[in-house]
Amino acid sequence: MLTIIGSGKVGGDAALFSALRKVDKDILLLDVVNGLPQGEAMDLNHMLSEQGVDVHIRGSNDYADMKGSDIVVVVAGSGRKPGMTRMDLLKINAGIVKDVVENIKKHASNAIIVPVTNPLDPMVHITYKTSGFEPSRIVGMGNMLDLSRFIQFIHESTGHSRDSIRALVIGEHGENMLPLPRFSTVSGIPLASILPKEKLDQIVKDTRGVAAKVIELKGATVHAPGNAISAIVEAIIKDRKKVIPVATPLTGQYGHSDVSIGVPAVIGRKGVEKIIELDLNSEEKEWFEKGVNSVKTALAGI
Ligand code: LAC
Repeated sequence: MLTIIGSGKVGGDAALFSALRKVDKDILLLDVVNGLPQGEAMDLNHMLSEQGVDVHIRGSNDYADMKGSDIVVVVAGSGRKPGMTRMDLLKINAGIVKDVVENIKKHASNAIIVPVTNPLDPMVHITYKTSGFEPSRIVGMGNMLDLSRFIQFIHESTGHSRDSIRALVIGEHGENMLPLPRFSTVSGIPLASILPKEKLDQIVKDTRGVAAKVIELKGATVHAPGNAISAIVEAIIKDRKKVIPVATPLTGQYGHSDVSIGVPAVIGRKGVEKIIELDLNSEEKEWFEKGVNSVKTALAGI
């Protein structure tokens, strides 16, 4: 069973996309707000009935209902308002995530946890420390979302099909995120031989800032995060061994332990099955380290 804790716009969209991907026949939406998960589940079940998709979505306000969950997605907490950074949510969301994870530990101790709540990387580490689960079972959704934006900018700049584009974003899901043109291609053709450096630099900059623009325009980001969550859930539940960037606790990789941040990893039924260490150049390393320091500073502050 897939449980999604937090039944607001992103949690509801994560359930919608997960159901349409048929990742599991049972999806549970949980929330502290009475009626919200139940109403969201009914609305989604009505949509699935027209689609002829036999995935059953339930809504509940009782944490005990997540018993037996294979995967628990944590979207609970506040989202950014226009003008805020993700890190501005640290104090508000740290306590919420801790409480949620205590309940996961109590009711779904064998689950893989997919943290989404911002600021993502510190929340991943709080999830790791609070749950006591092995690092492989903590699979944070952050760079997967950054990656979808990076691909969109590459698609817009080259005119090539999104389906031909393979790209990578790692590091902090925040101001110091690290889109990697050097590790991105269009049908195997290195991006650097398709776009000039100044264009690549612009795309990297735009990828860092575009979420704030969406929030300014429509008040929140919803469909892209909801979809990115479902893509990670699918890779886990279908044991796809897909190489995707996820935020997870490091135990020596990239020269770091006791911090959680976005890295490329093989994702399958056990969660993070292998972390892939890239040979980063000096500029890439600098951005990665800035992200690590930002996460460590945040964790030291709570
Ligand atoms: C974003 C939020 C979910 O990047 O961090 O849209």
